[in-house]
Amino acid sequence: MSAPDGILVTGGAGFVGATLVRRLVASGYRVRVLDNLSTGDAAHLAGVDVELVKGDIRDAEALDETLEGLGAIIHLAAAGSVIGSVQDPETNFDVNVLGTFRVLDAARRAGVERVVQASTGGALIGDATPPVDERSLPKPISPYGASKLAGEGYAHAFAKTYGVRTVAIRFGNVYGPWCARKRGVLNVFFESIHSGAPLIIYGDGTASRDYVHVDDISNALQLALENDVPGGTVLHAASGVETTVQELADLCRQAAGVPDHPIEYRPKRAGEVGRNFASYDLANQVLGYAPSVPREVGIPRTWKWFQEEVFRD
Ligand SMILES: NC(=O)c1ccc[n+]([C@@H]2O[C@H](COP(=O)([O-])OP(=O)(O)OC[C@H]3O[C@@H](n4cnc5c(N)ncnc54)[C@H](O)[C@@H]3O)[C@@H](O)[C@H]2O)c1
Repeated sequence: MSAPDGILVTGGAGFVGATLVRRLVASGYRVRVLDNLSTGDAAHLAGVDVELVKGDIRDAEALDETLEGLGAIIHLAAAGSVIGSVQDPETNFDVNVLGTFRVLDAARRAGVERVVQASTGGALIGDATPPVDERSLPKPISPYGASKLAGEGYAHAFAKTYGVRTVAIRFGNVYGPWCARKRGVLNVFFESIHSGAPLIIYGDGTASRDYVHVDDISNALQLALENDVPGGTVLHAASGVETTVQELADLCRQAAGVPDHPIEYRPKRAGEVGRNFASYDLANQVLGYAPSVPREVGIPRTWKWFQEEVFRD
C-alpha cells in the first residue's frame, strides 16, 4: 500500500468530510480541504490539524493553487440532494458534472497520481431489483443520479486517456456524526422525535435503502486511496443490508426510547427510488472493505451524538 503524503479533500467540511479528514489526519496524512462552505461548515473541522481553503471546485485557478504540493485527491464536494436536484437540475449539473470535470482536469494538469471520488449507488442505478452491484445497468431517475453517472464517466475517461488513477466509490445512504446539516431521513426523524412532531414517511413505508455508517465509508475511501487498483475502477461501499423506511423509523424510535412515537404517511415523492440495497463483494475482494458498524449499533450511537452535540440546549 502506498499513497502520497499530501491529500486534497474537496468538500471536506461537509458531513462525510468531517469523519474522513479526522481519519486521514490520524493516519499521518497532510490534508488540505477545498470547500465553498455551501452546505459544509468550518466548525466540522474544529480542532483538526488541517488547512481549510474556502473556494469552489468549478474555479480552475483555485484548484490549481490548492493542489500545489499534493499528490492525491479525495473528491467529495457536490450538490448532494436528490430532491434539490429535481427542484434545480441546472445547479446540480454545474456543481456535480462541471465541478467533477474541473477536479479531474486539475489532477491531470498537476500530474496528481490518484483521485478517489464519491459516487452513489441507489440514485445512479435507479429502480432495479436489489441487491445492486457493479454489473447493474445504471438508469438514474433523478438529475442527481445522472450527474454522478456523468462524473464516473469522466473519471473512467481520464484514467484511460491521461492515466489518472481514478476510483469511484458508490456509497449507500450514509449516516453518523456531523450529519445534522443534511436533510437525510435519519436526522429528520431524530429532529422530529426531539421536537415532538410525528415522523413523516413518504409512501407506505416499504421503500428501502442501504444505510451505511460514515466510519465505514471513510474506511472505504482510505482503502481506495491506498490500494493499487486500476484507474477507472467503480466499487460499491455499502452495508449490504436492506432497511425499509418503516424499519428505520422503528430503529430511530427505539434508539430514542420512544417506541410509540407517532408516524404520519404522505404520498411518495418524485425522483426517489423504491427499493435499494447494494452488494459490496467486489470492494471486499479488491480493497478488503467490509462494514463494521451494524445499524443496531450505529443508529443508537448517532442518537447519542445528536443528544450531545445538537439537542443539548
Ligand atoms: N451522505 C450520503 O448519504 C451520500 C450518499 C451517496 C453519495 N454521497 C456523496 O458523498 C459526497 C459527500 O456528501 P456529504 O453527505 O458529506 O454532503 P455534504 O453536503 O455535507 O458535503 C459536501 C461538501 O461539499 C461542499 N461543496 C458543495 N459544492 C461545492 C463547490 N461547488 N465547491 C466546493 N465545495 C463545495 C459543501 O460545502 C460541503 O461541505 C458527495 O459527493 C455526495 O454526493 C453522499
